[in-house]
Amino acid sequence: FGVHKEVDAHLLAHLSQKATNRLGSLDDSLHRSSDARSTLADEGMYEQPEPMTHNSVVKEKILQRRSLQMRHRQQDWQESPEGQKMLEFRSSLPAFKEKDAFLRVLSENQVVVVSGETGCGKTTQLPQYILESEIEAARGAVCNIICTQPRRISAMSVSERVAAERGEKLGESVGYKVRLEGVLLRRLLVDRNLKGVTHVIVDEIHERGMNEDFLLIVLKELLPRRPDLRLILMSATLNAELFSLYFNGAPTMHIPGFTFPVRAHFLEDILERTGYRLTPYNQIDDYGQEKTWKMQKQAQAFRKRKSQIASAVEDALEVEDFKGYSLRTRDSLSCWFPDSIGFNLIEHVLCHIVKNERPGAVLVFMTGWDDINSLKDQLQAHPLLGDQSRVLLLACHGSMVSSEQRLIFENPEGGVRKIVLATNMAETSITINDVVFVVDSGKAKETSYDALNNTPCLLPSWISKAAARQRRGRAGRVQPGECYHLYPRCVYDAFADYQLPELLRTPLQSLCLQIKTLQLGSISEFLSSALQPPEPLSVQNAIEYLKIIGALDENENLTVLGHKLAMLPVEPKLGKMLILGAIFKCLDPIMTVVAGLSVRDPFVMPSDKKDLAESAKARFAAGECSDHIVLIRAYEGWKNAEAQQAGYEYCWRNFLSSQTLRAIDSLRKQFFYLLKDIGLVNNNSETYNTWSHEGHLLRAVICAGLFPGISSVINKDKSIALKTMEDGQSSVNGGVSRIPYPWLVFNEKVKVNSVFLRDSTGISDSVLLLFGGNVSRGGLDGHLKMLGGYLEFFMKPELAKTYLTLKMELEELIQKK
Ligand code: CDP
Ligand code: MG
Repeated sequence: FGVHKEVDAHLLAHLSQKATNRLGSLDDSLHRSSDARSTLADEGMYEQPEPMTHNSVVKEKILQRRSLQMRHRQQDWQESPEGQKMLEFRSSLPAFKEKDAFLRVLSENQVVVVSGETGCGKTTQLPQYILESEIEAARGAVCNIICTQPRRISAMSVSERVAAERGEKLGESVGYKVRLEGVLLRRLLVDRNLKGVTHVIVDEIHERGMNEDFLLIVLKELLPRRPDLRLILMSATLNAELFSLYFNGAPTMHIPGFTFPVRAHFLEDILERTGYRLTPYNQIDDYGQEKTWKMQKQAQAFRKRKSQIASAVEDALEVEDFKGYSLRTRDSLSCWFPDSIGFNLIEHVLCHIVKNERPGAVLVFMTGWDDINSLKDQLQAHPLLGDQSRVLLLACHGSMVSSEQRLIFENPEGGVRKIVLATNMAETSITINDVVFVVDSGKAKETSYDALNNTPCLLPSWISKAAARQRRGRAGRVQPGECYHLYPRCVYDAFADYQLPELLRTPLQSLCLQIKTLQLGSISEFLSSALQPPEPLSVQNAIEYLKIIGALDENENLTVLGHKLAMLPVEPKLGKMLILGAIFKCLDPIMTVVAGLSVRDPFVMPSDKKDLAESAKARFAAGECSDHIVLIRAYEGWKNAEAQQAGYEYCWRNFLSSQTLRAIDSLRKQFFYLLKDIGLVNNNSETYNTWSHEGHLLRAVICAGLFPGISSVINKDKSIALKTMEDGQSSVNGGVSRIPYPWLVFNEKVKVNSVFLRDSTGISDSVLLLFGGNVSRGGLDGHLKMLGGYLEFFMKPELAKTYLTLKMELEELIQKK
């Protein structure tokens, strides 16, 4: 079970250390088994070790023997009392009735598409059916199943569960691999034919993450070359037709599952049932953020749907006789969350349930961690909902600690009502059995990508009909349920049937890099064979970007730098920063920057102590004009404090989150191992940390990584706002009246209502000249021309030539490394 999508960097860092440890011991046991003695670890489907020096006859014999051992083991387990009990449970799952049909279809077809209600047993049962039938046929030792999961947490919990169902420990025949993202894709990099793999299962296929879509293109191309390989696509809600067509009419199978009926209440009905009074209607606001959406197609489609929704809302409110009251359009359409009116409505509905409804847990779908936290704060302050003798309030998100996780699945005692605030993770990946009431905000945070402005956007947007149905279904696991959709029926009617695939809404740089590494030919051609191909403009932007940072040459061939970047599971710009950090021997602070940018800002900004928090952050800045250097200092201070057991106090005093700092810490470790794998560092810290305290060098490396994310400080007022968005985090450069640097390099420019720069660092002219951009693109003259605008500020062209010759040498050095 491997994760193939970076879902929550937080979670990643939290869990990865554990995973690495486990993998470490797994690797060890695989290693030990290479002397052909059959150990438990190499019996299984985790990763078949390459047979070493044996000729094929001997090899065959060993495999046969192992297969027989596996069969005995399986029989012993199934005949044991615990095994019997487990089998009894397993045969009660809806999937069990379809077992034979599934195996038959699979034996006759290379690709099978399976759908079935969440909890019917797809993920835990189908891989076991395959393995068990292979073991019974004495082919256990050659059966090797890979099942991908979109979330770390599910890869880990599911593999643990499957091992338990087989009476084993993890690492025997069942294991998982969650080392950063794209496990299977990464394997395909080194093993294009998936040698030794007999079955690939792509689970939760409906999520349509970028990696899943990419994987499907690669697998589609691989299948004819590996006629013995089987591919199974699984999901709860699935546009089976689409996938079946993509794989030349592959058969589809549905596992009918029993769920109790769930009554859907839409907003009209909720208002009536709960007696909630909406804000008196004053005026229909114009659609806040819509103004900043430019012509691009995606936005147009969005707008079209939005205005349909808007007029539908108005119609509904007219028709349903809500005259005089209305959701102000803004509240309902563009920024419901984190809006207090949305929160108040949720609070009201929850009160109604606690006071008037029958027992049963409540599951509330929110957009993200920030929302969940603020709503939890609000609810805790409520006289009824905050009363712990009546209500158990829990948050469910990727980075929750395991004790909290357990509580989510437990039944509270003494008539206490459990209310779980969750992200869309609880739609399919996690099943809380005792849920009877679902409150659906109708929103999920979704990244989108503005190709025209080359800017990623992160906005809560309406979910799809499929997702809404899925959320509703969560209420009917144990008895008939109720679902409160906090939007009018007509809004639901205007939802898209399925969510837009990630491939169509995110920048494609990392993906393009992988296409080149896998030698899949022309990027545009390859991507045009996707299930739903991305816009040519987005593809062009990504290719252009990779050329600018020097990962691809003019002919779209991978450069040496590009090869290395593809091996680092972070965005190309951050990967470049890491590599340069190693080359320029200032790796420790650069790893902190990259880890911090990948996880999240460790500074917390409580809204009631914002001024204090900001000044705490400013203390770290000390005139450096760099969010990145602030991050380095905060982290290093924390490390020192930790060494003296004063980490907690340090975090408290400086408004830092120790959880985030720990996540950064563990991610840094992983970076280090990866760089070692690539051969850029060794264990001698002299070789990579000699210049770690050189501030100018750090700025230079940060600039080289973040280029072309650069903004002139001169027109600061006109073009940029230096505040970060969303979480109320502020940049140390936000409140500075004068920045003593002509340029700012920034990590991210994000469009919310206007464009914001996230995490910036001031840099000088010479740093920009030397480290920004690539001379090898278009030669010296071309580069001079490109930088012409910058040059006229400060120097004569002759002097610039000297600089640029130096730069050429620098670039050569980087590419050679
Ligand atoms: O994949 P799908 O949603 O169809 O179901 P599953 O994950 O295979 O789970 C099938 C059943 O196994 C669930 O209904 C749970 O009762 C049980 N299960 C469990 O007890 N513990 C887990 N970690 C996972 C599943
Ligand atoms: Mg599943």
